[in-house]
Amino acid sequence: MHWTGSEKGGPDMHDLLQALKAAAEPTRLRILAVLGHNELTVNELCAVLSQSQPRVSRHLKLLCDANLLVRHTEGTRAFFRLSPTATGLPGVGRQLVDAVAELIDDTDPVIERDFGRLAAVRADRAAAAAAYFASIASDWDVIRDLHVADAVVETAMIDAIDGRIGRLLDIGTGTARVLEVFADRIDEGIGIDLSREMLNLARTRLTDKGLRHCLVRQGNACDLDITPASVDVTVLHHLLHFLDDPAAVVSSAARTLRSGGTALIVDFGPHDVEAMRTDFAHRRLGFGDEEITRWCEHAGLDVTSILRFPKDTATSNQSLTVTMWVATRRSDPTPLRQPGRPLRNNDRVTTTTSAPIEAAS
Ligand SMILES: C[S@@+](CC[C@H](N)C(=O)[O-])C[C@H]1O[C@@H](n2cnc3c(N)ncnc32)[C@H](O)[C@@H]1O
Repeated sequence: MHWTGSEKGGPDMHDLLQALKAAAEPTRLRILAVLGHNELTVNELCAVLSQSQPRVSRHLKLLCDANLLVRHTEGTRAFFRLSPTATGLPGVGRQLVDAVAELIDDTDPVIERDFGRLAAVRADRAAAAAAYFASIASDWDVIRDLHVADAVVETAMIDAIDGRIGRLLDIGTGTARVLEVFADRIDEGIGIDLSREMLNLARTRLTDKGLRHCLVRQGNACDLDITPASVDVTVLHHLLHFLDDPAAVVSSAARTLRSGGTALIVDFGPHDVEAMRTDFAHRRLGFGDEEITRWCEHAGLDVTSILRFPKDTATSNQSLTVTMWVATRRSDPTPLRQPGRPLRNNDRVTTTTSAPIEAAS
C-alpha cells in the first residue's frame, strides 16, 4: 500500500512510518532516551551506550534521516539533540519522541545503566570545568578582558536598562564584576556561582568596593534557589557557552524574573575557534540569534534587541563577536508547548552592530 500526504495538512504517512521504524530498534530507542536529557557528541554517546563509534554513527544517521534528531556542528564537533520541530514532519518528530520517551521504563536495567554512564559523562565534564575555573580564578579578570570587549559591553548592558533596578541576579557571577558594574543602579544584587575559588574573589571584590547591598553565594545555574518572579534584571554574562543544557538555564533564569523584568544574555556569536574548547573549557562555540530567540520564547521571554560587539581575540587570528540579547519577561509567561517559530529578519528585533572595539587598556 502506498501512503499519501495527509489531507489535514499533517505529516506524510510515509514519513511517519519512517520515523516509527527508525525509533523501533533497541539502540536507537536508548539514544532517544538519553538525548531526551542531554545533547551529546558521538564520543559521549559511545561512552553512554558502550558501543563503537561506527555503530553509533550509523544509528545517529538513521535517526537524523527520520527527522527524530538534529545534528549541530560546531568547529570539529557534532552535537546531537532531539529534533525541536522536524522538517518534513511538522512537530511530529518531537511529538513522537516525547510520546516514546514517556513509555520508556526508567527502571529497565539497560536504560538504568545508560543513565548511570550519562551521569558519569556529565560528572567528568563538570569536574573538568570546575578544575578549570579553580585554576584560572585569580587570572579571570585578565582572561575576561581578552575574550570580552569589557568596557563597551558593560556600558551597553547598563544602557539596556531604564531607571533604577530593585533586585539584580547575576548567574555565573565569577568574580562579581557584573554586580560591581551595576552597583550604583541597584537596591540589591545577588551573584550565584558554582566555583568556590571564584566566589572567594567575588567576596573580596564586594568587600573592597564596599558594596554591602550585593552578596554572592554558591549555587547551580541549573537548579536556582531563587524565589520565582522576584527579580527585576537577570544577567547571564558569558555563562551559557560552558553549559550542557543552556536552554534549560535560560528557562530557569526567566522564572526568576517578574513580569516585564529583563534578561541580559551576553555571549559569543557562532564561531569556529576550537582553542576556546581546548584552552578555555568552552562547551559551545557561540550561539546564533535564532537559537537564543527560540529558547527565550520557550521560556516566556521576548527578545527586544540584539547588539553585537566584534573583537579580535588574543588567542587566535580569527575574530569573535560578543552578542548581547536583551529579552523581556512576558506578562503571561506561559511557556510555549513547542519551541517558537524561527526568528525572521527584522522581526521584533533591532540589530545594532558596533564599531570594532579597541582592547581595553
Ligand atoms: C566565564 S565565567 C563568567 C563570570 C562572569 N559572568 C563574568 O563575566 O565575569 C563563568 C562562570 O560561570 C560559573 N559557572 C559555570 N557553570 C556554572 C553553573 N552550572 N552554575 C553556576 N555557575 C557556573 C563558573 O564557575 C564561572 O565563574
